[in-house]
Order: sequence, then C-alpha cells, then structure tokens
Amino acid sequence: MDVEHYDEQSRTVKRPLYEYYANKIKTYTNVTEGKCLDIGSCGGYLGLELAKITRLHVTFFDLSQEALDKAALHLIEDDLEERGAILLGDVHAIPLENETMDLMISRGSLPFWEEPALAFKEIYRVLKKGGTTFVGGGKGTPEIKEQIEENMRQRGQEIDREAMNKMHGDGMKRDYDALLKSVGIVDYVIHRADDGIWIQMHK
Ligand SMILES: C[S@@+](CC[C@H](N)C(=O)[O-])C[C@H]1O[C@@H](n2cnc3c(N)ncnc32)[C@H](O)[C@@H]1O
Repeated sequence: MDVEHYDEQSRTVKRPLYEYYANKIKTYTNVTEGKCLDIGSCGGYLGLELAKITRLHVTFFDLSQEALDKAALHLIEDDLEERGAILLGDVHAIPLENETMDLMISRGSLPFWEEPALAFKEIYRVLKKGGTTFVGGGKGTPEIKEQIEENMRQRGQEIDREAMNKMHGDGMKRDYDALLKSVGIVDYVIHRADDGIWIQMHK
C-alpha cells in the first residue's frame, strides 16, 4: 500500500467517509468514554474522527510503522495528542493484556488478515466485559461514495476500483457466522447495509 498517497486522500477528499462511520459507530455502540483500539488504523482517520465526537482515548494499531507515523502526526495536527497513542503489531497477536479495551474498531483492514478466525479470537480476548466492537468495511453510503468519486474526478485523481473492491467488496465476502462460531463467539450482530458490512461483537 502506498501510505503517502492513501494518507493524502484520506485526510482530504475521503474525510466525509470517516466522519460518517465515526457517527455511525457512536450511534450503534453508545461507547463514548474509556479506551478504544483502531485496528489497521493506517494514519488513524476513523479513530481520529471518533475521538472528536467522544471522550474516548484511542490507540492506533497497525503493522506498518510508516502508517503509525502518520497517525502520530495527525494526532498533533488535530490537537488530540492527549487523546491518542500508537501501537505497532499484528492483529493475530495483539500486544495488549486481556480485557483492556472498551471499544475496538476497524475499517478496511479485515480483508488483509491471513487468519481472520484467529484475529477475531484475539480481538475478543482484548475486549473488556461489557465492551463492544465495530469491525468491517464500506465506502460510505451511495451518496457519500458518489460525492467522493466526483470530487476525485475534479482533482484529476483515479479511483483504484480493484483495491476498493478488495477492501470493501469481495474481500469482505465471508461466512462470518461460521467464522465467529468457530472460535466460540456467539454474542454478535452483523450489520449489512448499503454502507458495508460491520461486525458488532459484545462481551
Ligand atoms: C486499507 S488500510 C485501512 C486503513 C484505515 N483503517 C481506513 O479505514 O482507511 C488497511 C490497514 O490494515 C493494516 N493491516 C493489515 N494487516 C494487518 C494486521 N495483520 N495487523 C494489523 N494491521 C494490519 C495495514 O497496514 C493498513 O494500514
């Protein structure tokens, strides 16, 4: 992934997408304080928007140090230094103690996880009792998607449909019921709508 390019787009033309999902996460989870982990955060776009509308402390977690350097920079730019931290690692072995996070979010990272069942088991391990997740992918509502594409056209920027499909289309097509049940997770809801697929687990 070209972090520089992804970061530029995410902080500008794609920003409405993250604002939309942050509001959705707040509405669906109702978790507005405590600790949040943004998994596969890249430059932190989703978690930053969520921090702006809640009192959550957000840890940006990613495999890529280059991506986390962007998240650290954006925390300063958005005047949210006290409200965030960065953490390098792999979702298949999250370097955190059991039951430490109130909310665990992730957008567009799941299709890259080599063993999603193991990753979900890890997420569930780190989730606090009473905590919840919002893990999935989507390109916003059809209206937001259209607006972003129009803005990109005006900027003379190409839409990488293959990458978008991997992250938010075919890459998300899995039997999540079977996957979650295979690791003993039974308390969950899968939200499927025109704005993507989102898995809300409860503990
Ligand atoms: C397409 S980006 C999504 C970034 C951001 N969440 C967003 O919504 O724009 C996927 C991110 O997931 C990260 N990632 C992929 N596999 C991972 C893993 N096993 N553990 C942690 N992060 C991972 C990548 O480094 C990348 O930053």
